[in-house]
Amino acid sequence: MDKVRIGIIGAGRIGKIHADNVLRMPNAEVVAICDPFADDSLRQWAAARGIGIVTQDSEDVMNHQGITAVFICSPTDTHVPLIKRAAAAGKHIFCEKPISMDIAQTKEALGAAEAAGVMLQVGFNRRFDHNFQRMRELVRSGQIGEPHLVKITSRDPAPPGKDYIRTSGGMFMDMTIHDFDMARFLSGSEAEEVHAYGSVLVDPVFAEFGDVDTAIVTIRFENGALGVIDNSRKAVYGYDQRVEVFGSGGSAAAANDYPNTAEIHTAEGVYRDKPLHFFLERYNDAYIQETLQFISCLLERRDVPVSGQDGYQAELMALAAKCSLRLGRPVKLAEAYALASQLLVKEGIQ
Ligand SMILES: NC(=O)c1ccc[n+]([C@@H]2O[C@H](COP(=O)([O-])OP(=O)(O)OC[C@H]3O[C@@H](n4cnc5c(N)ncnc54)[C@H](O)[C@@H]3O)[C@@H](O)[C@H]2O)c1
Repeated sequence: MDKVRIGIIGAGRIGKIHADNVLRMPNAEVVAICDPFADDSLRQWAAARGIGIVTQDSEDVMNHQGITAVFICSPTDTHVPLIKRAAAAGKHIFCEKPISMDIAQTKEALGAAEAAGVMLQVGFNRRFDHNFQRMRELVRSGQIGEPHLVKITSRDPAPPGKDYIRTSGGMFMDMTIHDFDMARFLSGSEAEEVHAYGSVLVDPVFAEFGDVDTAIVTIRFENGALGVIDNSRKAVYGYDQRVEVFGSGGSAAAANDYPNTAEIHTAEGVYRDKPLHFFLERYNDAYIQETLQFISCLLERRDVPVSGQDGYQAELMALAAKCSLRLGRPVKLAEAYALASQLLVKEGIQ
């Protein structure tokens, strides 16, 4: 294969970013973009980029013989059927996170990709962030010894709207899922147990959907290390993404990212500009890097850097956190699925 020919499925916020990033790569091409609501404005957008096919029907992508890989960037509840269909069509798959909100379905999707022998990469873009890559290297190389504590701060600048909250799957599945993946990535260990605390302090609308907007999740890893994640849907000073790993030989920390390092010193105080606004700005380079890696892996027939199993493990942590919040006790990952099934019957937990 000299070039990866790609079909983008879902032309919303993240689909357009991935399309633009693929277009930067000399060894990849966006052949088609699909969205059930494709209209003239999408056609103009695509024409300006030389994307030849704009369709409302994903079958046009799946049946296109020239397309070797798809980027699934549609809403989460469409991911599993699209993964299964793409696998059956022999297309390699990049799928946005989470794969699904039901880990049994996620498992089925992974099985379909494996049976078809296609690659499946999950969109945990933060692994490709320059700060977090360096942190992982520091842990992996043993420079800070055995990791004992992993601390992750992840706070959004503003909460999403009501419609988004309704279908988001809840804070742990929608937002903390990136942090669950980061916790595994940084510690190099699987989680054994999580204990979640949550509150509604930002907007009462979260309570309408049984969701929270402020949370602390503690993690016990299989290797004995401990972790803590703190989340808020609203940090008034902007997007806040920091991590620290403390180990037997020292510690390493990555500070928040800013658009510049200028400091303003006046009689009133010392100031700097706010952090990079939100994920699109902060993780711009990370999105490019994850796409670059996916394409290189397909061309060089290497394993993709973020597997379907990575997607599954983070979803399992999110499910355990949901159960923990509901039950008010720590939950082992091994019991999360059975507990969630009981709660589903009893209380309608998603
Ligand atoms: N990795 C990240 O940082 C990140 C960031 C944002 C969103 N996401 C994930 O990406 C996915 C999409 O999120 P978004 O924010 O781009 O949403 P969005 O609403 O902006 O875009 C989704 C698009 O998919 C289209 N669509 C709906 N049903 C479809 C179908 N069956 N087939 C094809 N297209 C369909 C919609 O019309 C819409 O244009 C979600 O799973 C979300 O969790 C990941």
